[in-house]
Order: sequence, then C-alpha cells, then structure tokens
Amino acid sequence: MAFFDMHTHFLCGVDDGAKDEHESHALLRMAYADGTRAICLTPHFSPYLFGDTSAASERAFERLREYAAEEFPDLELYLGHELGYYDSCLSALSDGRCRTLAGSRYLLVDFPAGVPFSTLRQGMDRLLQMGYTPVLAHAERYRALKHHLKWLAEFVICGGYVQLNASSATGEYGKFEQKQFKKIVQADLAHVISSDGHNTETRKPLMSVCLPILEELQISPEKIHRLTWANAYAIVHNKRI
Ligand SMILES: [Fe+2]
Repeated sequence: MAFFDMHTHFLCGVDDGAKDEHESHALLRMAYADGTRAICLTPHFSPYLFGDTSAASERAFERLREYAAEEFPDLELYLGHELGYYDSCLSALSDGRCRTLAGSRYLLVDFPAGVPFSTLRQGMDRLLQMGYTPVLAHAERYRALKHHLKWLAEFVICGGYVQLNASSATGEYGKFEQKQFKKIVQADLAHVISSDGHNTETRKPLMSVCLPILEELQISPEKIHRLTWANAYAIVHNKRI
C-alpha cells in the first residue's frame, strides 16, 4: 500500500522540523520505508515564529529533491506551506510568499490547538471568501471543535477540507486527539490523513500507524485509499475531490 503524505516538516533550517540535512534525509528514508511514495513538504509559514521562510524553503526543497532523485527515484515530491493563520496573512498569500499546496488552489492552514472557536471560524470564512480552498490541518487537535463538529460539517459543505494526523489515531498525542480523530472519521468529515512528521524521534513521519484504527472503525479499503493517497494526489494536481 502506497501513501501520499501531504503534511510534513522535512525541510531543514526553515521551521521546527528537520534541524539539518542529515535529519531531512533520515526523515525521507523513514517515510519511504513506511510505504510513502509521494510527499508534500509543508514548512510552517508563521513569520512571527520562524521569519519569512519562502526563499529558504525553495532552496531546501531543491536540495532535497536532488537527494531524493538519486536515492528514491519513484518518490514524488511537492512543495507547499502550512500557513499559521494570522490577521494579515492574505498579503503573504497574494504576493506568493506563502505557498498553496503545490501551487494549487488548496491551502493548508493551522491554528494554535487552543484557538477560540470564533477565531477559527472567522479565519476559515475569510479564506473561503477570498477564493482559497482551505484544508484545516490536524483538525482533531482543536479543543474548540469538541462541541462544534456541526460547524466542521458546515465548513465542508462550504468548500473546506479536513486533514488529520495519522499518529493521533493511536493516542500518541493524547486521548482527546484520538477521540476527535475517530469522531471526525466516523462522521465522514475527513479528507486527508498525513503524518505531520517533524523528526525521527517524537514526531515521526509515519502513515501506516493509522491503519489498524481505520480498520477497527470499519472504514472501507476504498475510503482508506482516498484518505491516504487519492485525495492528496487530487489536491496537489488542483483537481476536485
Ligand atoms: Fe504541521
């Protein structure tokens, strides 16, 4: 089974992911050994935390692509950003400093886990109104959505998409995240499962860990394929899901 990992932090020197090229390569090897055959590199675009990573991300991506072409010729790599939503982010989007997923209309967006519900909703509404197609990163993490899954359904109806982290399925990040992961999958509100891998120790780039839980939830093999490959493939090729 091949995986498309659409949310990763393997580029070094641009955020809190890989700290050097050695770790970048180790992350790629670990992902490949787990069955990943396509990856979108999504360094954080959070200027207040990491500065403007646009040019540095491109350079790190080109270096990683050269390494991957030698070591893993059947591995596809794409470049995007994970936008840490902030009030004036639209200017970074319009001038291209913050990248959508592989240049598509889809944009990976995250918020702090404790974000107030009103901030989350207003941010997503704004992006939708501006014509972007937001993909809410690791939706299982937001405390505010515990009592607002109905909003998540409305968000999806309005054209939004939902990404979950594979490791949340196992409870690795806590009981709350695991419970929310299951609820969102069972409500059929998830589109993409990714690793959000940052390092080879505590936030590994593994996709396969979610499979036993999806099977336990009686998710069909076709749906699992969509969640772990086909929908991400459609997104980076700017196709409708
Ligand atoms: Fe991330």
